[in-house]
Order: sequence, then structure tokens, then C-alpha cells
Amino acid sequence: MKQVKGRTVDHSKTEMMEVVLPNDANALGNILGGKVMHLMDIAGAIAAHRHSQSHVVTVSVDYLDFTHPIRVGQVILLRSRVTRAFNTSMEVEVRVYLEDYITGQRLQTSSAFVTYVAVDAQGRPAPVPPLVVRTADERRRYRQALERRRRRLVLAARAHKTSSSNKKDLRNKSSPATKSP
Ligand SMILES: CC(C)(COP(=O)(O)OP(=O)(O)OC[C@H]1O[C@@H](n2cnc3c(N)ncnc32)[C@H](O)[C@@H]1OP(=O)(O)O)[C@@H](O)C(=O)NCCC(=O)NCCS
Repeated sequence: MKQVKGRTVDHSKTEMMEVVLPNDANALGNILGGKVMHLMDIAGAIAAHRHSQSHVVTVSVDYLDFTHPIRVGQVILLRSRVTRAFNTSMEVEVRVYLEDYITGQRLQTSSAFVTYVAVDAQGRPAPVPPLVVRTADERRRYRQALERRRRRLVLAARAHKTSSSNKKDLRNKSSPATKSP
């Protein structure tokens, strides 16, 4: 079988910038959380596209918080990099910073691990090339990604079990009660 050639972290590292406009903000002039999530998904997907050189879909987003408001007129900077490639999925770390071009201040405001799955034209999962890690920092992130994947798959299995048993409960409630003789 033909060995798929690995790609380095640098091959797919991505940086994206956008100015926050009034249309992206709430009444206080702070960017909406949903807009930040949208941009994070795009920045993460670009890194996943570049690594896999394929179509990708978002399958999971780990814990995400917003630690500092980003205001209209400030620049939002997003950095994404693949931390590990598995079989058809890739974990991508996305970090968000605010940059104030007047004061020169830069501050990290969010970060998340997003998992993307490479898919073929029919939407079926497709294999991705391995990630080539070179630096100590890349190797550390790569090692840690395995444990994060294990945890998120356990959580996903639990969540899916709960949602399917909720559906079953709803079905049981809507069907007429039967009594055994
Ligand atoms: C992603 C998708 C193609 C996976 O299909 P599937 O039939 O579950 O495929 P598999 O079970 O073979 O899983 C494929 C990969 O996804 C990973 N995966 C599945 N669910 C996951 C989850 N909740 N978190 C992290 N990884 C997950 C699997 O571990 C596997 O990775 P691997 O091949 O690297 O080991 C399918 O669920 C899908 O199309 N989802 C909708 C995606 C989408 O539209 N996203 C946009 C927002 S709605």
C-alpha cells in the first residue's frame, strides 16, 4: 500500500485578521460570541484544509470561553495549527487575540481545540496525512492531543447515548400506555 507522506505543522499554520465592525457587535460595542465562533471555525478549517488538502467538516469543538471583550474598531487576530492528525480526523488549536492598533496592545481572548474530519465528495470520511512534528513544543502538543481525543470521544459517546435515550423516552411518552394482564 502506498505510504501517505506526512506534512509539517508549518505547512498548514494559518493566521487570519479581521476588523470588528458595528454589525458584528452587541449594544455595548463588543463583538458577539457567535461571530468569534464563526471566525474560529473558519481559521481552524483553513488549517485542516491545508493539512489534508481535502474537503473537511467540523465534528467537535472542545471547551470555549471568552475572557476579554473585543470592541468595535479593534482587530481580531486568529491563529490556527494542526496539533495532531489521526486517521480521518485532525485536531486543530485555534487561538484568538485582540489587537489594538492605536495602543499596540495584543491580548489572547479565547482558544479552543476543534476537530475536523476530511471527507470525499460524497461526505464520507477520508484518510489524512500524518502530522510531522519537529520542535519540542509541537511534540508536546502532539502527545497531549491523544488524551484530549480520548476524553472527547468518551464525552461524545455519553452525550449521544443520552440524546438517543431522550428520544426513546419521548417516543414512549407519546405512545399509548400498555398494561400487562
Ligand atoms: C463527521 C462525520 C463525517 C463523521 O462520520 P461518522 O460516520 O461518524 O464517521 P466515523 O465514525 O468513521 O468517524 C470519523 C472520524 O471522526 C471522529 N469523530 C466522530 N465523532 C467525533 C467527535 N464527537 N469528536 C471528535 N472526533 C469525532 C472519529 O473518531 C473518526 O476519527 P478518525 O478516523 O481519525 O479515527 C459525520 O458525523 C458528519 O458528517 N457530521 C456532520 C458534520 C457537519 O456538517 N459539520 C458542520 C456543522 S453541522
